[in-house]
This record gives sequence, C-alpha cells and structure tokens, in this order.
Amino acid sequence: MKSALAIAFGLHQLATVVWVGGMFFAHMALRPAAKEEVKVPERLFLMAAVFRRFFPWVWVAIVLLWGTGAWIILGAFKGGLALHVHLMMGIAAVMTAIFVYIYASPYRKLKLAIETKDWSWAAAKVALIRRLILVNMLFGLLTALVGSAGRLILAG
Ligand code: HEM
Repeated sequence: MKSALAIAFGLHQLATVVWVGGMFFAHMALRPAAKEEVKVPERLFLMAAVFRRFFPWVWVAIVLLWGTGAWIILGAFKGGLALHVHLMMGIAAVMTAIFVYIYASPYRKLKLAIETKDWSWAAAKVALIRRLILVNMLFGLLTALVGSAGRLILAG
C-alpha cells in the first residue's frame, strides 16, 4: 500500500512538472524569444508546431493528475478531504476546463487559419491561447503551492 501510494505521489509530481513547467517555459521564454526573433507568418507556424507537440503531453498530465489524485485520496484520506485538497481539485477543474476550451476552440481555429493562410485570424488565435496559457500557468503555480505548502498551512 505504501509503495503504491509512493507511485501515485511520484506520478502526480511528474505530471505537475510537465504541465506547469511546460507552460512556464512557453510563456516566459519561448514566446517572447519567438516574438523578438521570428517574423509572421513563420512565428505562427512555430507556435502551432510547439502546441502540436506540447498539447498531447498536457492530456497525459491531466489524466495522470486526476487519476493519481483520486488514488491518493482513496489511499490516504480515509477520514474526509482536507481543505488544501478541495482547493487543489477546484483549481484543477478550472485549469482542465480552460485547456479543453483551448484545444477545442482557438487551437482548432489556429490550425484552420494556417491552412487557409489567414495570418491575422491565426495571430488572433495565438494571442488568445497565450492569454489562456498565462491564466493556467498562474493557476498551476498556485495549485502546486497549495498541494505542497498548503498541506502544512491549511490541513487541520
Ligand atoms: C493542475 C493540477 C494539480 C497540480 C499542479 C497538483 C499539484 C500537487 C502537488 C505539488 C502536490 C504535493 C505532492 C507532494 O508533496 O509530494 C499534490 C498533492 C496532492 N494532490 Fe494534487 N495537483 C493537481 C491536481 C489534483 C487533483 C485533480 C487531485 C484530486 C483528484 C489532487 C489530489 C492531490 C492529493 C490528495 C494530494 C496529497 C495531499 C497531501 O498529501 O496532503 N491533485 N498535488
């Protein structure tokens, strides 16, 4: 039981690193560098290619976070959920909904805009995805804080 929980904690942590770290890198380093160094339309191709490679890993991270989160709850929270876990699940639900929206709407439209060479439409979709990723990155950093330090501060 203890080693099963260790696996769950380990996978939960790895999924956090992949999703939140990936958003931090994309927002803080890749996108400003691309804006400085790469002109439209190449920049739009670049961002679409980055999303094509990163988003499948986000799906894996989401499945892992919910799966291992439930696993930890079943294995370690017999007497009811602590406040920091409620908070983590609440913010994670919002983050998941935002990602599903990105994937289903602006990302799908970005691919269409690139196919039809509509650069201003594509640029608008990249700008929207950037703003939504910023929101999810801030939520992700907060969730990681709540999941780690919150246990010491909020748990009764
Ligand atoms: C973006 C989403 C999430 C992030 C970034 C995140 C992050 C974290 C982190 C950093 C920890 C601390 C791990 C450690 O100290 O080893 C943690 C623990 C935990 N997480 Fe999450 N988590 C997320 C989503 C979820 C979800 C959806 C659930 C439930 C379904 C969940 C349930 C838990 C539980 C039960 C713990 C253990 C808390 C404790 O030991 O007191 N998490 N999470």
